[in-house]
Amino acid sequence: MIAISFLLLLLTIFLRLTWLNKSGIAAIMQEYLSNTDQVLSQDQLIALAKKIREPMWNWHIYIGFLLVGLFTIRLILAASGKMKFQNPLTVKLTAKEKFQKWTYLIFYTCVIISLVTGILMEAGPGELKKSMEGIHAFGIYYLTAYIGIHIAGILIAEFTSQKGIISEIISGPEIEE
Ligand code: HEM
Repeated sequence: MIAISFLLLLLTIFLRLTWLNKSGIAAIMQEYLSNTDQVLSQDQLIALAKKIREPMWNWHIYIGFLLVGLFTIRLILAASGKMKFQNPLTVKLTAKEKFQKWTYLIFYTCVIISLVTGILMEAGPGELKKSMEGIHAFGIYYLTAYIGIHIAGILIAEFTSQKGIISEIISGPEIEE
């Protein structure tokens, strides 16, 4: 569910940066209006563009809150020892294992920062919104970098030393009878 939520979240960010970009929509409306007798100011065009984008963007917030719940469960499971916590400081790790565990730790830290700044933008004090936005928008970089490293790592493992890892990720480890 966490993986699917991240992909859907990425889709909302992608739409906001492309087809539903406010400047792009404003330019389309401006071009249409220039062929009629009506005029709207740039501020009005942007306000309308945001209204058009809003139903799509609301899903960013819904999925964001869903991720807050899923991540809380994930962290509780790790803290109570029911699910593995990737500790890169464990001695006797190979360089590859250290890289894997650091990647997870850095990714999880960035996710927590995104979730906290997201909640603060939505429900925190108004004066914090601008500064939170700057930190929050950084999400696109680590999220795409992590997904790239993660998929490359899984494919390398599947075709070299850990055949079956993809099916294990989806269905869990094989239990011997
Ligand atoms: C890991 C989780 C998250 C990631 C990676 C993420 C990523 C992003 C990115 C990259 C943007 C900027 C989009 C752009 O400017 O084109 C953004 C904007 C935004 N996010 Fe998130 N987000 C996450 C979770 C959340 C949560 C939990 C909430 C709130 C509950 C939230 C609320 C918002 C809001 C309100 C904006 C718009 C800010 C503005 O008006 O500029 N996000 N998010």
